[in-house]
Amino acid sequence: MTTETKPAYSPGLAGVIAGETEICWVDPNAGLMYRGYDIHEMAEKASFEEIAYLLLNAELPTMEQLEKFKQQIGRERPLPKEVLEMLRLLPKNTHPMDMLRTGVSMLAPFDPELNDNSHDANIRKAIRLIAKVSTLITDGYRIQHGEDPLPERPDLTLAANLFYKLTGEVPPTWKIRMMDTIFILYADHEFNASTFAGRVTAATLADMYAAVTSACGTLKGPLHGGANEESMKMLDEVGTPDRAEKWMMEALAEKKKIMGFGHRVYKEGDSRVPIMREIARDLGKRVGKEEWVPICENLEATMDREKHLCANVDLYAAPVFTMLNFDPALNTPIFAASRVAGWCAHVVEQQDHNRLIRPRSLYTGPAARPYKPAGSGNGA
Ligand code: COA
Repeated sequence: MTTETKPAYSPGLAGVIAGETEICWVDPNAGLMYRGYDIHEMAEKASFEEIAYLLLNAELPTMEQLEKFKQQIGRERPLPKEVLEMLRLLPKNTHPMDMLRTGVSMLAPFDPELNDNSHDANIRKAIRLIAKVSTLITDGYRIQHGEDPLPERPDLTLAANLFYKLTGEVPPTWKIRMMDTIFILYADHEFNASTFAGRVTAATLADMYAAVTSACGTLKGPLHGGANEESMKMLDEVGTPDRAEKWMMEALAEKKKIMGFGHRVYKEGDSRVPIMREIARDLGKRVGKEEWVPICENLEATMDREKHLCANVDLYAAPVFTMLNFDPALNTPIFAASRVAGWCAHVVEQQDHNRLIRPRSLYTGPAARPYKPAGSGNGA
């Protein structure tokens, strides 16, 4: 008989500090910092490449370092031909997140430094992953739709190149800025579920590709990254601003989980929402789809009044991606194209100061009982 006393327990690890990080701070009072820099200022002024460099290297780059970083990413974008072949072999109805997860996993043996978890090798692998995750998404999507992948445009930023390689359109300057801002908003969020999954994998001293494969699998779920795809289904269903309140009241009465609302850490607002909301408003004016923001705002007002739950970034990301003409199935992969920078930075940090992550569980099964072999009347 065990003598273990019942320990403190927090379902879903809510409120549990599971590790230290210097990379990112999520302030429950609607704040977010990357290595000490406020997201609001960075979203307006920085490029995604600067943020990715900052997350990985702890400091912002000089002009020279930034240029070199961009060139490294540009060089690493193409996929091995075997990986492209694999993308062609997948069933045509494969979800882009499953393509991405499979692609990241398959890239592993092509990396000559796969099993070198030293700091410098991990940074080099991170650059390869940041570059190739975007290519897996764009090339996978085009292949799935019977089209050939487009050639890289090394002159474009990573976010703009993703846009170009999906749509065939070189985005105008304002759209490039918008894509960069969206990528910056999604780049990291401390111990969110996918990053934590990646850190757990990295903490066993498995390689960075294994960690990013875990993270991709975890991001897919609708309670996490998958919410930005699910939110669009909801907004399509609501349809017009005047229907939002009624729709929300009915959904709450049916005890439905409303995608794009609620957050484990933010209880007074998601730091990224005001920026994403303004992007949606701006885009709405530019493309003549001004109804999405009032639909979201009316849903927000009703949810706040009824349950005091705040919207999260995925509520507004959904119409933004739709207005940018992306297939909703790409919403979560585009999130991943940015978050891979955060995932890799966390793998580097985890393996630089590693300790196995292995919590306990609280046993709630049957008490000790004697074994009864099959056939001795143990069944129902
Ligand atoms: N719709 C309806 N009710 C919700 C809700 C939502 N989106 N989010 C939370 N709630 C409810 C919970 O069911 C719970 O109700 P109860 O007390 O009656 O059981 C209450 O609000 C408190 O929930 P909380 O403990 O704060 O949620 P959590 O931390 O366990 O879960 C999420 C956080 C993000 C998983 C959850 O809010 C959710 O599922 N949101 C929708 C998915 C989504 O948008 N994910 C993206 C997150 S960035």
